[in-house]
Amino acid sequence: MIDKRSGEVSNLEVPDSDATTGIGHTRWSTHGPPTDINAHPHTDCTGEIAVVHNGIIENYDVLKSKLSSHTFESDTDTEVIPHLLEAELKSDTSLREAVQAVVAQLEGSYAICVSVKSRDEIVVARDGSPLVVGYGDGENFVGSDVTAFLEHTQTVTYLEDGDVARVDDGDIEVWNGNQKVERDVERVEWEAEAAEKGGYEHFMRKEIHEQPTALRQTLSGRIDISAATADLDLEFEEAFLESIEEIQFVACGTSYYAALYAAELLERFGDVRTSVTIASEYRFGGGRDPYCTLTVAVTQSGETADTLRAIRRAEAAGARTMAVTNTLGSTVTREVDETLFIRAGPEIGVAATKTFASQVTTLALFSVFLGRARGGISAAKARDVLEDLQRVPGAIQQALDREREVIDAAEKYEDSRSFFFVGRSLGVPVALEGALKLKEISYAHAEGFAAGELKHGPLALVTPETPVLGVLTEGANPAETMNNVTEAQTRGADALGCVSSDTRFRTLDVSFSVPDVGVAEPLVANVYLQLFAYHVANLQDRPIDKPRNLAKSVTVEWLVISWNSRVTKPETHMRTQHKHAF
Ligand code: M6R
Repeated sequence: MIDKRSGEVSNLEVPDSDATTGIGHTRWSTHGPPTDINAHPHTDCTGEIAVVHNGIIENYDVLKSKLSSHTFESDTDTEVIPHLLEAELKSDTSLREAVQAVVAQLEGSYAICVSVKSRDEIVVARDGSPLVVGYGDGENFVGSDVTAFLEHTQTVTYLEDGDVARVDDGDIEVWNGNQKVERDVERVEWEAEAAEKGGYEHFMRKEIHEQPTALRQTLSGRIDISAATADLDLEFEEAFLESIEEIQFVACGTSYYAALYAAELLERFGDVRTSVTIASEYRFGGGRDPYCTLTVAVTQSGETADTLRAIRRAEAAGARTMAVTNTLGSTVTREVDETLFIRAGPEIGVAATKTFASQVTTLALFSVFLGRARGGISAAKARDVLEDLQRVPGAIQQALDREREVIDAAEKYEDSRSFFFVGRSLGVPVALEGALKLKEISYAHAEGFAAGELKHGPLALVTPETPVLGVLTEGANPAETMNNVTEAQTRGADALGCVSSDTRFRTLDVSFSVPDVGVAEPLVANVYLQLFAYHVANLQDRPIDKPRNLAKSVTVEWLVISWNSRVTKPETHMRTQHKHAF
């Protein structure tokens, strides 16, 4: 039985069934509009072979032209896969062999999942898109992300590029080429409840409120006050740490802003030159000695295609590499020399919130670690910074306790025409992140920039209908930023500011108080901006956890799809899983 619909997953009505296998998928429209016909799964001419696919088949038109006797129904690239399978699947061929023969013809990136009517198995394959299998009790699972089936099992295997796996209710067998291979079976330490809403209306608000806990996990066991350093379990040799001439960050979106914050800290404390490049724009810089370069990929998911591509470029040019990620077993962790886990726990909302805080905090620890290794920071200063970081979870809790003030501001400004976010120094990445958060979930026009840039252009857009939000804390040159905010106020704009608790800017229309945590104050300011974005979007009744046109993991360079599947014992009630469908 196949049921597929355009729109929300809730549009589907999957009836009770005694089927033992099921596959499901939400599609991002790249080839053809979002219609019922273009929705996944796609089938062959007989309707017996069903396929869901995350990725893009770049040679689908060539393959399609070779299937002239087949009738295609959709506009998608994916539909060639079941038709190719129809041609390969003979009575004496196993489904796994047929899938291997088909994927050998595909160009592009894919994680696919194949189900054939009346067979109690599914076969999956990956190349370039994430795929994880989960081991249940008499039932097994497949997903593009472990959170899809975390409520059923924490025992998983992350498949690798080129892997094809046969999954039924017993053993999971994996092949790579003609070889049957053994892949590590790992236990994910995330609890199932962490991937549930736990009484909150939206994952995003839950994840904003989880930040104190997430940061305690991030910091746990990593601060060594007596040695005035951070213990990060990195295996870079001392000589290498001392020889680094430049740290290059590559990242996208929110992770890019976290990298901007971190780069500033590394320059201050790590005694090292830094560059931060949007991963899709990254080209390894000519003329530098790659052996003195450390390239750091900052990526929550560890699967962002642009970031993976950038880190591969750096590696190919001879740079040492490190990943800063939230995701055990993710592709990036297999490709870099060292990994720093941010330990934020699962983040389900498309909008990154707690992972930004954990990325910045992890990298703040790294800046102290590097500064101590290179002599760029004194023991006394390092202790100050580490003690400030220890106080951040409590400071964020204080900000969260003042959520009512943010709701009042959101109610006052929700209908504004445009929002401007400004800051200086460590306030710049937070201004950029504040604007991104607001635009992505509320759809309001929002721009973030360095406060000094206001007068170089954006001021032309400032009117009484365009509130300006300033990051006015320590670490963000508050007095100078306030001058720029005042420039906007004199043009009629209302001004909202996140302000250090010992400072007053009396002319602000709205102030949010940030406790004293030194260079981490802009990070706490960011919590107010997250709440502001959330409440504006909520007042507008936006689909906050799944904003239009966006996805949690951007696993190819121009599209994303997530899906998950389940194989169960015959007596187990089967239901198709859609939880991780964005
Ligand atoms: O998984 P990554 O950190 O590599 O994702 C990068 C961006 O797609 C991501 O940060 C995105 O900008 C946020 N979800 C926006 O809230």
